[in-house]
Amino acid sequence: MDEFSLVVLAAGQGKRMRSDNSKVVHRVCGKEMVNWVLGAGLEAGCKNATVVVGHRKEQVIEAVGSQAETVEQKEQLGTGHAVMQARAQIAESDNVVIVAGDTPLITADTLKAAMEEHLRSGNSATVLTTVLPCADGYGRIVRSRNNSVERIVEHKDANEEELKIKEINSGFYCFKSSDLLSALSRLTANNSQQEYYLTDTLAILKGDGKKIGAFTVEDSNEVLGVNDRVQLAEAERLMRGRINNRHLLGGVTVIDPLNTYIGGDVIIGTDTVIYPGVVLEGKTVIGNNAVIGHNSRLVDAVIGDGVDIWSSTIIESSVSEGTHVGPYAYIRPGCSVGKGCKVGDFVELKKAVIGDGTKLSHLTYVGDAEVGKNVNFGCGTVVVNYDGKNKYKTTIGDNAFIGCNSNLVSPVTVNSGAYIAAGSTITDEVPSGALAIARARQVIKDDWKDRRK
Ligand code: UD1
Ligand code: CA
Repeated sequence: MDEFSLVVLAAGQGKRMRSDNSKVVHRVCGKEMVNWVLGAGLEAGCKNATVVVGHRKEQVIEAVGSQAETVEQKEQLGTGHAVMQARAQIAESDNVVIVAGDTPLITADTLKAAMEEHLRSGNSATVLTTVLPCADGYGRIVRSRNNSVERIVEHKDANEEELKIKEINSGFYCFKSSDLLSALSRLTANNSQQEYYLTDTLAILKGDGKKIGAFTVEDSNEVLGVNDRVQLAEAERLMRGRINNRHLLGGVTVIDPLNTYIGGDVIIGTDTVIYPGVVLEGKTVIGNNAVIGHNSRLVDAVIGDGVDIWSSTIIESSVSEGTHVGPYAYIRPGCSVGKGCKVGDFVELKKAVIGDGTKLSHLTYVGDAEVGKNVNFGCGTVVVNYDGKNKYKTTIGDNAFIGCNSNLVSPVTVNSGAYIAAGSTITDEVPSGALAIARARQVIKDDWKDRRK
């Protein structure tokens, strides 16, 4: 048997978000809230995660993917009722960690420390708590004179004395599975919201003579619950700070961390410099000594050592060592740019393989193409890859020279070392080492201006 399983509560509508979407799929630093908590739980060592879904369940199921099993809570009758839906899964392990899908800032370290404390103390239930200057909206931890935890009272059910309590329920718990199952079967909905509160299980277990305890979370930011978009923005700000600090401490220069947006899964090498306004998303990986210039956006990009990128967008593509990109280049999905290349201003690439040392310095479009090494593209080259119905491929060999303002009408091949004269529209294969000129010859009409009169 595994020591801990994990249950994530994610069925609620989240009315205060005023959204058509499930609350827990709203993103914090690019990742759905439910996936932040799920990730922390799994990283802390929980096995067999179960996510309780309900409102807009298809969105939550899609976001979670294969990371966890899902169970449905058809009607949202409260957090206790949500946990009841995962009875079978809870029964499979000795202990269970319960987390809310709307608390994205919890860390694996904190959860792990709480799990260890739960086992060490032999508690039946351990609730993670924190002290807040303003506890509005949160459940309060009611302690007895000898300071032991007695029960949790929800904000809406609390009396004047209880509302003064600053120690709050974070919504994270560790339970002995069998005790939780026994308490769940005795929950009632006798409260102001007529819901089955998970929080009531503590008082039930206490009544059974079981040991219940609290684990204090030192950094109360970790348990910030996101119920509205003000809190979502706050979570975003805190998470951004945490991510940026991790990179700063890891040897990355982030010139203005308050204006730099790095997703949680992005990896950046040492001595890389990130300028203001940069957005790094998805599974982007950046090597050492790179420069990511201002206002660049990288999504699922793989960037080699020493690459410099200025005010450019790169999506689902790789750029190798020492290549220079931008300003204002747009590298669309499916590209692989080699080492020591130049992809200059107003160059657009799509599904293109570009060999080492190739230069596309300015105003060029290359789509559905395979380009060799050390090719030179003159200004204004267009790969004409689309005939209105289908896309075709262009192949260019090593050391070819494509003159300015050429059209390469796909499918077409320019073999290695071939030259294309400026202004050509190429429709036929160009042999290796040949010069192709595909334009009208210049005609001079002498004295034309005077004769026209
Ligand atoms: C809950 C706690 C409160 C605690 C706070 C911490 C209860 C009764 N109250 O209040 O003590 O201080 O979290 O953030 O537990 N959910 C379901 N099904 C439901 C209801 C809720 O899956 O029927 C899910 C929600 O999607 C959400 C989580 O449970 O992810 C918490 O629900 P929410 O309504 O936000 O509870 P709070 O009022 O914040
Ligand atoms: Ca909440």
